[in-house]
Formats: sequence, structure tokens, C-alpha cells
Amino acid sequence: MRWPIVSTILALATTSMGETLLYRNTFNDTSALQGWVAEGPVNATVSNNTLTLAGAGGPDDYFVYWLPEVFPDRIRITWEFQPIQEPGLAMFFFGATSVDGGSIFDPSLKPRNGSYPQYHSSDIRLLHASYFRRRWPEERNFHVANLRKSPGFNLVAQGADPIPSVEDVQGAYYKIEVVKDKREVTFKVNDLLLFSFDDTKTDTGPVVRGGRIALRGMQPLIANYRNLEVWKL
Ligand SMILES: *[C@@H]1O[C@H](CO)[C@@H](O)[C@H](O)[C@H]1NC(C)=O
Ligand SMILES: *[C@@H]1O[C@H](CO)[C@@H](O)[C@H](O)[C@H]1NC(C)=O
Ligand SMILES: *[C@@H]1O[C@H](CO)[C@@H](O)[C@H](O)[C@H]1NC(C)=O
Ligand SMILES: *[C@@H]1O[C@H](CO)[C@@H](O)[C@H](O)[C@H]1NC(C)=O
Repeated sequence: MRWPIVSTILALATTSMGETLLYRNTFNDTSALQGWVAEGPVNATVSNNTLTLAGAGGPDDYFVYWLPEVFPDRIRITWEFQPIQEPGLAMFFFGATSVDGGSIFDPSLKPRNGSYPQYHSSDIRLLHASYFRRRWPEERNFHVANLRKSPGFNLVAQGADPIPSVEDVQGAYYKIEVVKDKREVTFKVNDLLLFSFDDTKTDTGPVVRGGRIALRGMQPLIANYRNLEVWKL
């Protein structure tokens, strides 16, 4: 199988912070999505260095789209996000493993099809951040971003979401940065901190470590994604 990334040069790239690039996807050709795993109906298209994700099912059929890689703990993930059709909601899943620390694709786990309870209250462990929460009226009249830790529907952090409605986006992309550093998580948009989480005092089960990451969308959201990178801290 051909992975969409990591030429030798990229794998050796480091920042001044001593970080190492683990994964970069510029969505620059049709092989960019090779190895990605869709759960639930998604229409994923790549063009002009942009990944466009839209739901492809009924109004209440949502999707989770897993990257082909398993990542270690202590990573920084960045991407650019542009909502182009609302309402809807975007999420980012990270540190996903089975509850016993194995693969989320272990055949002994329950089947999943994008329906949220299968992810937050079942046999997988993960953190999941929701942003651009515009699916329901109560989300649209007060814009917040949430971090939940699962298994369990544990809301562990929350902050105001500065991303505007589609009509005011005017072609802008919003740079999202998630840092997952052992017990600490931060979530930023355009360098503005929305929330942070320190998993030292919550009674929410074992600390989430390394694992898989995914993009999730709730209909009828259509959104563009660019320049997805994962750096090892
Ligand atoms: C796409 O980008 C990757 C690096 O992200 C590069 O290695 C590859 O050559 C590019 N492909 C095309 C068709 O430009
Ligand atoms: C899938 O997305 C592409 C590009 O966004 C769009 O042109 C096409 O109509 C969509 N197809 C379906 C079945 O939704
Ligand atoms: C392609 O992307 C560039 C850079 O983001 C943008 O300026 C241009 O309008 C896009 N072209 C199309 C056809 O979407
Ligand atoms: C997904 O599974 C749930 C049961 O967990 C079911 O209610 C729902 O209809 C399924 N959705 C799709 C798109 O198959």
C-alpha cells in the first residue's frame, strides 16, 4: 500500500522547537486519500490542494474519516479549515484506541457507521473536539467548542468558538492547532487559545495516549481542509 506521505526529506524535517514531522498531507493528488478509512457516508474529494468533505447520506447520517496512520502521544496537529455550507458541525478525534489500548480496527470491536454514541460510549477510548458547532439551533445561538473524553460523554473543556458563519468567511481559512502532550491538550484557532485541558484531576478513566486521528462531519456541513500536518513534540 502506498501511504500519502513521508518522503525521507519530510520525515527528517524539524522545527526550531525540535519537533519532527510525522505526517503531511497537502491533498495535492488523487492518492492523497489512499488508506483513509470512512465510517458512515462521506463524499471526500481532492482538488486544488484542498480536501472537501461532505456527508453523503441522509440528513442524520454522519461520518468519521480516519487517517491511515497510528500516532504516538505528544503530537501537534495543524490544519486549515474553511466551512462552505452550513448548518452542520465539525469534529476532530485523536488518541483513539480500543478501550484496552489495542487497535480501533480490531475485528472484535462493535461495528461503527458514524453514529456518535458508537464513538463516545462504547469500546473505544479517545479525545474528541467539536468546533464550528452549527448543527442545532442551541449550538448556533451560542458558539462554543467542546472537548470530550471517552468512553463516557465527559465534557472536559469548553471555549468560545471564533469561526464565523459561512456568509462571513469570505474565502478565509482558519488554522487549527491541537496539541496533545501526555495529560495536556490545547486547541487554538489562528493562534487564539479556545480551551486547554489538563487530565490530572478528572475522574474520567485512564489518560488518553497515542492512537488514531480522524475528521468528523455532521450534515449538511460541507467544509474544506488544507495542509494537514502532524508533528512529534
Ligand atoms: C504532493 O506533495 C508531496 C509532499 O507533501 C510530494 O512529495 C509530492 O511529490 C506531491 N505530488 C505532486 C503530484 O505534486
Ligand atoms: C461530491 O463532492 C463533489 C465536490 O464537492 C461534488 O461535485 C459532487 O456533486 C458530490 N457528490 C455527491 C454524490 O454528493
Ligand atoms: C485554488 O487555491 C488557491 C489558493 O488557495 C486559490 O487562490 C484559488 O482560487 C483556488 N482555485 C479554485 C479553482 O478553487
Ligand atoms: C448506523 O447504526 C445505527 C445503529 O447503531 C443505526 O441506527 C443507523 O441507522 C446506522 N446508520 C447508517 C447510515 O447505516
